[in-house]
Amino acid sequence: MKPRNDVDLRTLNTFGVTALASQLVDLEHEEQLPDIRRWLDGRTPFILGGGSNLLLTRDLTEPVIRVCLSGRSYQIDHNSGEVQVVVGAGESWHGLVTWSLEMGFQGLENLALIPGTVGAAPIQNIGAYGAELSDVFEAVRVYDLARGTWLTLGPRDCQFSYRDSIFKQPGTAHWLICSVTLRLQHHQVGNGQLKLDYGDLRAEVQANRELKGLGGLSTQSLRPQEIAEAVIAIRTRRLPDPAKLGNAGSFFSNPIIGLEEALALQARFPGLPAYRVVSNDPSGQHGPAMKLPAAWLIERAGWKGVRQGDAGVHADHALVLVNHGTASGQQIRRLAQEIQGEIHRLFGLTLAIEPRVV
Ligand code: FAD
Ligand code: EPU
Repeated sequence: MKPRNDVDLRTLNTFGVTALASQLVDLEHEEQLPDIRRWLDGRTPFILGGGSNLLLTRDLTEPVIRVCLSGRSYQIDHNSGEVQVVVGAGESWHGLVTWSLEMGFQGLENLALIPGTVGAAPIQNIGAYGAELSDVFEAVRVYDLARGTWLTLGPRDCQFSYRDSIFKQPGTAHWLICSVTLRLQHHQVGNGQLKLDYGDLRAEVQANRELKGLGGLSTQSLRPQEIAEAVIAIRTRRLPDPAKLGNAGSFFSNPIIGLEEALALQARFPGLPAYRVVSNDPSGQHGPAMKLPAAWLIERAGWKGVRQGDAGVHADHALVLVNHGTASGQQIRRLAQEIQGEIHRLFGLTLAIEPRVV
């Protein structure tokens, strides 16, 4: 274990903002964990994955642990067609999706091209194109750096909901996710349900099939790989590539409100889209819930493409804040706060910030 001092984090966060870590250690093997715990000496660490859901507004004086744990293993149950996959937390998420498709496994195709590591996927229950991590999640192995103990958490323990989980709650800052276990389907068995119902996904798949002369869209002959290809194509058109333009994906989560409130807003703002969803409130006491696209609200409020120095709102997608070059984390946060204020004033809605802000 060799901690490094004064590490520049600019290339370790996809916003590409400059910040220094006073001390940073790479976690490459689980055997290093007791040493790392002694090194921490009771201090709370900052746990870093791929830095793709992170806004750094200051230098990090707390010890940083960069999770580089690798490894993939799988077991197929040939009777049920289920595949259990165990993956090290430092593996690339998209690398896992690509590998799983090459292996003929089904279940991750809608989640293609999401940046970051496997270990961070449960933190906000990553989701896209009609699927969420929780759909395929079986368990997570966690090392508690405060106590020096191991925990295994199943789906219920993780309390997954839209962009949320137990890992965002207070008291979990010492929990380091070391590996994630997923339950996929072996595609040859053909009993899994492919998801095509999100937005323009079906149309994209259909158009690709016609281009390749593959004929109509019958789910029997449809391969998960085709869904991944369509998702990748849509995402590439819609979202900026962090290697070219710093960003952390959606900067705000989409607000979820009650049906009546949504209808009242639609009456005031014709054209406002709203989608029926399962509420984040597990008690379900508050009746039907609707999700509103924050991008629509931000565009309608006139912020799309706005630039304040090098901090800006992406010209092609209003939910993505970008760093045009040398913006600081504080400048991006100020821009976000102005947008939040305006959305509250115009629509009476509070936009929650999605990435971790430190
Ligand atoms: P980091 O940014 O490094 O960390 C995020 C949080 O997780 C931090 O709080 C960190 O402390 C914690 N953490 C990381 N690893 C561990 C660990 N092993 N143990 C404990 N805590 C840990 N997200 C979606 O859900 N859907 C999308 O479609 C999507 N699209 C995106 C598109 C772009 C272009 C970008 C830049 C981001 C997008 N994101 C999306 C957000 C992001 O990719 C995900 O949230 C991803 O899971 C973050 O992974 P990471 O390794 O980069 O985490
Ligand atoms: N829209 C606008 N203006 C824009 C962009 C979009 O008005 O500039 C409206 C359109 O009505 C569009 C709607 O917003 O139909 C939704 O847009 P999009 O399909 O791009 O999805 P999103 O709600 O902006 C969410 C996730 C993404 C995920 C996609 C696909 C959140 C906060 N974001 O984005 O996740 O990839 O759906 O499922 O839920 C992320 O979390 O970082 C992320 C990128």
